[in-house]
Order: sequence, then C-alpha cells, then structure tokens
Amino acid sequence: MRKNIVAGNWKMNKSFEQAEDLVADLTEYFEENKPKGEVIVCPPNLYLEMASDYASESSVLNVSAQNVSEYDNGAYTGEISAEMLKGLDINHCIVGHSERRQYFNETDQQLANKVDKLLDFSIIPIFCIGESLEEREKNNHFNVVKAQLENGLFHLNSDEFSNVIIAYEPVWAIGTGVVATPEQAQEMHAYIRGLIAEKYGNNIANDTTILYGGSCNPKNAKILFANKDVDGGLIGGASLKAEDFIKIAESF
Ligand code: 13P
Repeated sequence: MRKNIVAGNWKMNKSFEQAEDLVADLTEYFEENKPKGEVIVCPPNLYLEMASDYASESSVLNVSAQNVSEYDNGAYTGEISAEMLKGLDINHCIVGHSERRQYFNETDQQLANKVDKLLDFSIIPIFCIGESLEEREKNNHFNVVKAQLENGLFHLNSDEFSNVIIAYEPVWAIGTGVVATPEQAQEMHAYIRGLIAEKYGNNIANDTTILYGGSCNPKNAKILFANKDVDGGLIGGASLKAEDFIKIAESF
C-alpha cells in the first residue's frame, strides 16, 4: 500500500547508549505527537533487538535492518539471515544501498536474491536505486535506474512486488549536501512509477511507495515531499539527531 514514510538510515553510527537514547526520544515524542506518515528507524544490526523492543511498545515506530544475507543459513561467517531478522520482529530491510553496491560490490543478482529471501519471511524490502554523478552527466541516469529496477525487482510477480518500497537515492546527493532539486526528484520518481505501470499496471504503480534519499534535511524535506510522486524520504545524516529527524517526519 502506498504510504507516506520517513525512514532513518543510521548507517554505521552511534554507540549502543546513543542509539538507545535516540530510539527512546523518538518513541516518546511520536507517542504524543502522532506524525502523518509512517516512521522507520534503520539502526546497525547489533541494536535491532533494542529498537524492536521499543517499537513493540510504540504505535508509530517501525524498525528496519540495513542489509540481509542472500542465503538462507549455514556457513556464511558474519552474515545475518532474513529468518533471524524476522525472529526479532523486524519487518523492513534496506536492500541495494549504493554503499553496498559500491563498497561491497553487491551485484543486481545478489540484490534480487536478497529481496526474495526477505519476501519469504514477509519482510518489506526498501530497495535502493540511483545513478552516479558521471551517469547523470552523460545523461544516462534513466537507463541506469531502469536497469537497476529490472534486474533487482522485476522478476517478482505482482503480489510480491506489491510488498516492496523503492528508494530513489542519486549517489551524487548522498552525504554531499547537494540535494536533488524537487524537479529532478519528481521527474525520476514519475519515471520509476511509469516503469512500474508498464510492467505491473497502473493500480500497482499508484500503490507503490517511492522515497527520495540524498541530503534530505529539515529545510528541504517539505518541498521534496510536496511532489506528487515523492512519498517520503530515506534519511542518512539528518536521521542521527532526534530533532532533525522529527522535523523531517513532520514535513508531510
Ligand atoms: P544522507 O541523507 O546523509 O545524504 O544519506 C542518504 C542515504 O544514503 C540514506 O540511505
């Protein structure tokens, strides 16, 4: 179902104590000030159980992992399976963040496998796509995004695809302070929704949640989220401070 969502991707940040303080602050605030959209926090794996405990007491907070193994279980040292996430009541997981694609060489095929594993356990993939600066400058950004969508998600049937959230995160906007203009975001989101419509039909396309990510902050969130095809944000740096993340969550 299409929803307004703000998700905070903490990446590899915070001590346990800092993480718990942030989750506690967000839980407390949102309990008294219900946001219009859904709120998701994506802490490092070691803090998922703590965050999940808070979420179980909250009517607002949801928890997402940042990554999952492409395998079921077995001799894969250091990996975390979808089944393990489900065991902690984790209902979302980021897949294919550009940092995973770039620094850990995750391929489209691996990402497609990860999506399948998550869906096996009814965990919603937050599937990230987005072009590099070079690709945009060569006017190749639409082709790149199209290929990422097709290779990572379009093997799904309609029912499966209906459970996926998409995050458009142009790599040149991530952590750089250079945010996409509202026009650039809307243009790409509309393009993505159009591709989904071609493949799965208008109903599913209109029901798909497409988030924007990349230097989204309390100042620019409102103008980004005001666009017809932008359903919210996947927030990095600005999700690490309760005050900033709350302002973004209140930007709908
Ligand atoms: P920033 O908001 O820090 O640019 O990061 C965006 C991001 O990568 C979220 O997944």
